Amino acid sequence: MHTTVGIVGGGPAGLLLARLLRLRGIDCAVLESRDREYVERRQRAGILEQATVDVLRACGAGARLDREGLVHDGIELRFDRRSHRIDFPSLTGGRRVTVYAQTEVVKDLTALHLADGVPLLFEAAVRAVEGAEGDRPVVRFEHEGRERTLTCDWVVGCDGFHGVARAALPEHVRHTYERTYPYSWLGVLAEVPPSCEELVYAHSPRGFALHSMRSPAVSRLYLQVPNGTDPADWPDERVWDELAARFAVDGDWTLERGPITSKAVLPMRSFVTEPMRHGRLFLAGDAAHIVPPTGAKGLNLAVSDVTVLARAFAHLARTGSAELLDAYSDTCLRRVWRAEHFSYFMTTTLHTDPEQSPFTTRLQLAQLDRIAASPHAAAELAENYTGLPLE
Ligand code: FAD
Ligand code: DHB
Repeated sequence: MHTTVGIVGGGPAGLLLARLLRLRGIDCAVLESRDREYVERRQRAGILEQATVDVLRACGAGARLDREGLVHDGIELRFDRRSHRIDFPSLTGGRRVTVYAQTEVVKDLTALHLADGVPLLFEAAVRAVEGAEGDRPVVRFEHEGRERTLTCDWVVGCDGFHGVARAALPEHVRHTYERTYPYSWLGVLAEVPPSCEELVYAHSPRGFALHSMRSPAVSRLYLQVPNGTDPADWPDERVWDELAARFAVDGDWTLERGPITSKAVLPMRSFVTEPMRHGRLFLAGDAAHIVPPTGAKGLNLAVSDVTVLARAFAHLARTGSAELLDAYSDTCLRRVWRAEHFSYFMTTTLHTDPEQSPFTTRLQLAQLDRIAASPHAAAELAENYTGLPLE
């Protein structure tokens, strides 16, 4: 098998890259280790920046997103038993975000590929990427019990944090920057209408909580929990009681309860690999960088990486010039580090470190108070949350 661009991983980064290349007439193939059902069900992100929505629409994956996506003009911050709304359009010159689950983005892109006949192999586990420094890199993978190879002009590792592509960057060229956090999230999906119209990010003496949603009938909620927490220690009643305690405000507000249909613990990490390219191998999305989820940036960064990369491949095909491919890593890393900073800021401002001193808690509250009091401070948050326009 041979293709122009071999794509390792069929998550949002790999699927969208394949779509963007296909629309520009560039040949590609996607190898995904899991089965289709698993990939389409994996509960993950839920917030799309304006630029992400624009890219999905422009590539023909916007029809259901436009029908079912919930456009949000702001978020609510809760702290000190008070609530404060951040209004995005007035602070950012009209930008907003859309609530549309990653599972749905993946379903929409997969359906387009299968209809178009783009080679998208499920249960094709890549074992190694070889020859990135030469002219014909090779992807070795296992499919239907057989060892197979895909030769490519270029390879893109879109295989997430636990994938294999990153390891093909030799250690002497690879620099990694990492931070782990002393807490995780317990994420639950519940069959109950959201108790709020917009997302609520809560700082409380009991730890962080986030109220999000998937549809007018389904809520998505997160609780800060200690690392190593077993979801089995969180029966539904305990989850609801703890959420209600953390979201409590002075005044009228009730958290509606309902059946919980999924429960999982997610560790929190910041991680960046530099450079995002070596020879004919590129990294995109979580394969290159991870953010803690508090700023809702992970999926949006994956989309911006592959948008930059698809343009660079198209430029090469059209003009013969590799200048945009050569600029790929630097172009992406500027945005990546901005998102790393914002995600770190949101995480450390809103969570309670188990070792945290009362002094640090007062600093967090002073920072939140500043955001509530100053349109300049609020605009800084709003601009980052709604995302920078794509360059
Ligand atoms: P992924 O979605 O990880 O896709 C990588 C794909 O590669 C997967 O389908 C995987 O099966 C496949 N793969 C891996 N190894 C191989 C191999 N060897 N061969 C072939 N295929 C392979 N972000 C938010 O903004 N909010 C959230 O609430 C949130 N929750 C998250 C929860 C979890 C558990 C995780 C892991 C991430 C979460 N994120 C969240 C981050 C967001 O979901 C990711 O940033 C986004 O999925 C990145 O997309 P990607 O395509 O780069 O990587
Ligand atoms: C969701 C996840 C996030 O990490 C976030 O900051 C906002 C929303 C979600 O899954 O809906």
